[in-house]
Amino acid sequence: MGQSISVFGLGYVGSVSATCLASKGNRVLGVDVNAAKVHAMDSGQSPIVEAGLGEILAQANKACHLHATTSATAAVHQTDISFICVGTPSLRNGKLDLSGVERVCQDIGEALRTKNTFHSVVLRSTVLPGTTDNVVLPVLERASGKKAGSDFAICYNPEFLREGTAMKDFFHPPFTVLGARDISQLEPLRKLYAFANAKVFETSVTTAEMVKYVCNAFHAVKVGFANEVGVLAKQLGVDTEEVTKIFTSDTSLNISPAYLSPGFAFGGSCLPKDLRALVHCAKQNDLRVPLLESILPSNTEHIERVVENILRIGRRKVGVLGLSFKAGTDDLRESPIIGLVRDLWQDGVDVLVHDPDVQPDAMLGSNREYLERQLPQIHQILRPHIAEVLHACHVVVVSQKRPEFTAALQTLNGRATVLDLVRLNEDPASLGVSKYRGMSW
Ligand SMILES: NC(=O)c1ccc[n+]([C@@H]2O[C@H](COP(=O)([O-])OP(=O)(O)OC[C@H]3O[C@@H](n4cnc5c(N)ncnc54)[C@H](O)[C@@H]3O)[C@@H](O)[C@H]2O)c1
Repeated sequence: MGQSISVFGLGYVGSVSATCLASKGNRVLGVDVNAAKVHAMDSGQSPIVEAGLGEILAQANKACHLHATTSATAAVHQTDISFICVGTPSLRNGKLDLSGVERVCQDIGEALRTKNTFHSVVLRSTVLPGTTDNVVLPVLERASGKKAGSDFAICYNPEFLREGTAMKDFFHPPFTVLGARDISQLEPLRKLYAFANAKVFETSVTTAEMVKYVCNAFHAVKVGFANEVGVLAKQLGVDTEEVTKIFTSDTSLNISPAYLSPGFAFGGSCLPKDLRALVHCAKQNDLRVPLLESILPSNTEHIERVVENILRIGRRKVGVLGLSFKAGTDDLRESPIIGLVRDLWQDGVDVLVHDPDVQPDAMLGSNREYLERQLPQIHQILRPHIAEVLHACHVVVVSQKRPEFTAALQTLNGRATVLDLVRLNEDPASLGVSKYRGMSW
């Protein structure tokens, strides 16, 4: 037995959602302020051009599972769930225009005022984190005179379909993301999406809102990246397709979660050097590659952000655990931690450093020269024992994941603030460190 649903906004998202949900046996009522779109859907025609939509829409309409109206009141009164799929376009300055969302919430809220049964309002439009709680909720409560949570539910359910393949994307989504303040109120949505053979994430409203933006930003970065390396390869006479085929076949480091955990800046002897070489090569070939060019400045910005965070804590004795760019190596070339220590030092901060892999007296050749050139004070500030650093400092910055660092921090007993740059533990609360701050979490 299907559910009774109204879908506000019969554009690309709304028309597809309404039709697909109706085709799964739900009773769906489409709502739009545009009478022509309403008339089209109500007479079995698609309001938009989308491959495969017209046929399924016509069938659902013929089976009396799909109708449309311009009346928000009728739609709210006749259904149990209202999806909001109105547009959220950009204003001239890039800010999101929420006037459509506010208007539809006003309409739904006014209709809720005269409805006696429980109703769920589900926002599908793409909105920035906080919008559901700070815009949708107050408008609905004010217009309805009712309380969100007890008199009606508010959920956020982002849409991931792509125009042109929207039907396939709806029936086979990459995942389903359901956000609510109280996840028990997600039950009707769980049932609704039971057809999809996809992982369901039940999470907070703000997480669900943010996931949508992170996905779209990442897709845009992927396209920009592919195009920049593609034109560069072509310019160099390299087979772009072959490069892409080999590059994407690595599902361990390339097409994978690797390198996608928020943490500290990258460094080491390869990434900065190779990026610089690639950007230089593009310039020599008269190619502008703004995305590739922006990566090193973005990395530097992140180091500066960490320095600002440390200075904001306001204590002048800072311990840094880890000097090389990652645990298990004494290669210090382009370690971002060296830049961090130098910046702190220049700002008058008293810094001590501990790294089990870095012993300048035992280092040979260019690595030692590099260290002494970059950090001439290294012999004064390096401590062989972690305990010395922990005892002397008010702030401890952790830049490498090492079990011995975690164990030592657990003995601090609140004596120092820990700034974790690498997320030592999936669940930082279980670290047992009382004054703990994460860099990007
Ligand atoms: N288009 C996509 O591929 C896509 C994919 C995922 C998410 N999204 C997001 O979904 C949302 C909708 O996008 P779209 O492309 O479907 O928008 P759209 O502009 O095609 O359609 C919006 C519809 O809402 C209607 N509308 C506006 N105010 C209304 C009101 N008060 N009551 C009833 N209807 C009203 C408009 O008349 C229009 O038909 C946006 O936030 C968008 O970012 C879009």
